[in-house]
Parts: sequence; structure tokens; C-alpha cells
Amino acid sequence: MRETKIYGHRGSMGAYPENTLISFQKAIEQGVDGIELDVHMTKDGEIVVIHDEQLDRTTDGNGFIKDLTLPEIKEYSAGAKFQHFESYDYETWGEERVPTLQEVLELLHDFPKVELNIELKTYIFPYFGIEEKVLSLVEQYGNNRKVVYSSFHLPSLLRIKNMDPTAKIAWLLMQGISHPVDYMETFAMESLHISKDMVLENVYDYKNLLQNLRVWTANSTDEIKQLLDLQVQAIITDYPEKALFFRNERKMFV
Ligand code: G3P
Ligand code: MG
Repeated sequence: MRETKIYGHRGSMGAYPENTLISFQKAIEQGVDGIELDVHMTKDGEIVVIHDEQLDRTTDGNGFIKDLTLPEIKEYSAGAKFQHFESYDYETWGEERVPTLQEVLELLHDFPKVELNIELKTYIFPYFGIEEKVLSLVEQYGNNRKVVYSSFHLPSLLRIKNMDPTAKIAWLLMQGISHPVDYMETFAMESLHISKDMVLENVYDYKNLLQNLRVWTANSTDEIKQLLDLQVQAIITDYPEKALFFRNERKMFV
């Protein structure tokens, strides 16, 4: 039986501040097979790990990443807005900052089996040159781990593939496309990262592709169990601990 991998979405964002070192560390401790994170580029050309184009929602700062330097971004807490999480000990981790991609790769260094999905958030601002910088950081600090580059913005993925034909690229989709296999073959995609509703509501359409799908963001018990039944390649979830529990529970009865 093929084993579905469990990826922690923005680390372990259901219980820890999203896209922070503590969130990634906890996901690793929980035993994830992989981690998903989002990257943007600062005014001074650094690659930072944050979901939004702006600091406002997830930090106590504000402004666009593209308009701020890394030292300016580092002034703000990436944990302060998440003090309500029961498992997040703000007293201990209150200094949490927006991490750079390099810092996350360094954190992952001793866990080379943990796969990494780097989502390039290039569909609003193009961040000229971001693809080359991301590839270079992975080359320097990736410790030869499996890295999958994903984006809603197809040109970013094609640039990555042009620069490194061995790179694994995955197109992020939240709506159906015609002939998905044709896209995958034409652009040498390793996989498709598709929203859970697309799969769960149209299982028949994807029946021959399940092994090539990482499905996001499946959080309910029901969704997780359905996707485990379908044996998709990976589930991307805010609650990796829960998904790992259900997957491992099945193994005990095989
Ligand atoms: O990569 C899957 C998922 O993260 C895509 O959506 O908005 O959570 O980055 P978002
Ligand atoms: Mg993402």
C-alpha cells in the first residue's frame, strides 16, 4: 500500500504561529514527512518566509515586504498575534521573528529526510530575481533534501525549471484545468498541488493522477481520512499531528 505523506502547512499553523521557526520545529518533532512554507523578497533582496505580501496580519508591524529591508522586518514579532494558541508558550518563544529562508534551511539541516515545499508567492508582486535566489539558497543550505517548488504563478515555476532542469516543480491550483496530464508532461511538473475540494468533489477526474497530487489544506478528520483512502501522494494540513495519528493508526491494522 502506498503511504500518503503528511506535510505541515506553514509548519504546524493550527497550533503555532504560522511560518515561524517554532512552527517548523514543532512540525518536525511531530514527525512530518514534509513542510510547506511561503516566500517573498524584501526591498534589500532577502528571501523571507511569510504568507502575506504585508506584515500586518501575522506580525505586530505593518507594510509591504517589498518596501522593507530585512533589518526593518526583523524588528517585529511574528509570535505576538498568536498568543491565544494553547500550545504556544509566548513567554519562551515571544522573540519569534519572520525567518529568512536560510534560517529555515539551517533549522532543517539535521533532518535531511524532511521534504520541503517552497511556495513562491509571486502572483501579486513578481519579485524580479526571486527564483534564482531561492535556488541558490537551497543549493547552499538544502543539505540535498527533496525540495518541491510550487506557485500559483506558472512563469515562476518555468523560470525555476529553466535554471535547474532537475528541480521538482508543482503547479498550485484551486480551480480545475483541462487536461492536467498534458500540463504536467509539457512543463515537466513533478506534481500538482491542488485544493482539497477539487479532489474530493471530483474524485473520478483525478483517479489516474492521485499519486501525483499533494492536496491542500485538509484539516478536518473527514477530509484527512478520505484523502488517506485515496492514497494521494501527500496531504498538506494545518494539523500534521492529527493527520499523522490517523495515518499511523491505519498502519497498525495492515
Ligand atoms: O501550498 C498550499 C497552500 O499553502 C496554498 O495556499 O494561501 O495557504 O499559501 P496558501
Ligand atoms: Mg502556501
